[in-house]
Amino acid sequence: MSLALIGGTGLNSLDGLEVLASHAVETPYGQPSMAIEEGVYAGKKVFFFHRHGGNAQPIPPHRVNYRANLWALRELGVERIIAANAVGAIDPLMTSGKLVLPHQIIDYTWGREHSFDDGSSGKLLHVDFTHPYDEVLRSEILRAAETAGVSCIDSAVLGVVQGPRLETAAEVARFSRDGCDLLGMTGMPEAALARELGVPYAAICMVVNAAAGLNDAPISIDDIRQTLLTETALFGAVVTAFLKA
Ligand code: HPA
Repeated sequence: MSLALIGGTGLNSLDGLEVLASHAVETPYGQPSMAIEEGVYAGKKVFFFHRHGGNAQPIPPHRVNYRANLWALRELGVERIIAANAVGAIDPLMTSGKLVLPHQIIDYTWGREHSFDDGSSGKLLHVDFTHPYDEVLRSEILRAAETAGVSCIDSAVLGVVQGPRLETAAEVARFSRDGCDLLGMTGMPEAALARELGVPYAAICMVVNAAAGLNDAPISIDDIRQTLLTETALFGAVVTAFLKA
């Protein structure tokens, strides 16, 4: 089954991907963040792109054209998607450097083009989103993490915030009361758009900081970059085991 990997902050390229082609796909929703690479990774065909469009001039989370990205993947015949998200953690057990596979989402984003349903189909598109991530894909990723010897927390509620700024301490307290374990900026509408297209989707979250106000140290971009170096290697190990299974 054809797999796509969506890279996020820290994962602007996929180390070890032998690129065979690059697809600049036009969609009814405009252009994806960048040309989508097709190549071989761990002996299998995969598609890859960075949702922020590379490091030269990164597209901020609220300006990513999620609809074009997802539509383009479907056009290329992608049948499953594993997305990477750098996140801040509210749950104290989800410390920096850990991988977490969220099982639920609370969407706090606004003003993003969040649906393919523009009303023109003549029917309402009430897609089921009770379980926002594909459970089969999630369990296969967890098994792959085990095979790779990479510790991966198996469930979490991901709160998706608008960004690009980080949260206030009071906002984090509120998100915690709501039941969020993690906070990120790019999980939505990506997951919902994949569901509208019927493409199984799961996310691997890389914890890069404790959410605002939860410890005394200010959130430092340098620390985040350092943490991401190790986490992207772990992400690669999990995906390699996933593809070899
Ligand atoms: N909050 C929201 N998004 C994030 C964070 C955070 O603390 N860290 C990385 N992405």
